[in-house]
Amino acid sequence: MKLLFLGPPGAGKGTLSDLAVEKLGLPHISTGDLFRAAIKNETPLGLKVKSIMASGALVPDEVTIEMVKERLAQPDAKKGWILDGFPRTIPQAEALEKIAAVDRVVNFEVADAIVIGRLSTRRVCRACGKIYNVKSSPPKKEGVCDACGGEVYTRDDDKEESIKTRLDTYRKQTAPLIDWYGKKGVLVTIDGVGDPNEVYGRFAKLM
Ligand code: AP5
Ligand code: MG
Ligand code: ZN
Repeated sequence: MKLLFLGPPGAGKGTLSDLAVEKLGLPHISTGDLFRAAIKNETPLGLKVKSIMASGALVPDEVTIEMVKERLAQPDAKKGWILDGFPRTIPQAEALEKIAAVDRVVNFEVADAIVIGRLSTRRVCRACGKIYNVKSSPPKKEGVCDACGGEVYTRDDDKEESIKTRLDTYRKQTAPLIDWYGKKGVLVTIDGVGDPNEVYGRFAKLM
């Protein structure tokens, strides 16, 4: 199965992907995670995208499409995948169409006020990427990842200014994909508010 997770920043795409990966056994491919790994490893790609990401703007389409093409060519991607955070523009969706046919596009709906609250309290493990929230799902020991003992930190783009830019960017460049995929007949929309397991239940019913 080839799935896309669509939705504003903080909609819970990463959190739901972690739940779905366990249950469906598909690889989770997050373009945000791939870029963050490149930044951490100080690769040429990482150096190119660091300041763009911190500001909350999008990385140029050509760079993003090339990275996704390479990732989808890996052997583990043969059986299907969950693509989280890609495509984010119409040109990216058109490029993906040439690579693979998508079975479902899952659009998570969450209001801006909730998203802002979630992002300003999010923490992430620098080593394994596990997602936490200081209010709703903190690590057992402050600043330390339960899964791998890595450092739990605040993403550079979870600062107030960047959150605003990301929401604007989402509205202008990504939200048009809801209609685009709707017309293709592959879109399902899910209420993303509630306990993550409850949201997962809504998703599972539609698969
Ligand atoms: P990316 O990493 O994809 O960020 P994003 O789309 O802004 O989404 P987030 O990761 O912020 O949110 P999420 O929906 O995954 O929510 P999460 O599960 O963490 O992209 C980052 C940047 O990379 C972009 O801005 C851009 O620069 C670049 N980029 C990436 N892809 C690109 C592309 N295709 N083209 C160009 N540039 C690209 O949850 C958030 C918080 O809420 C967590 O604390 C979590 O614990 C909590 N939470 C989750 N679900 C619930 C729930 N149900 N109830 C309560 N709390 C919840
Ligand atoms: Mg994410
Ligand atoms: Zn970790």
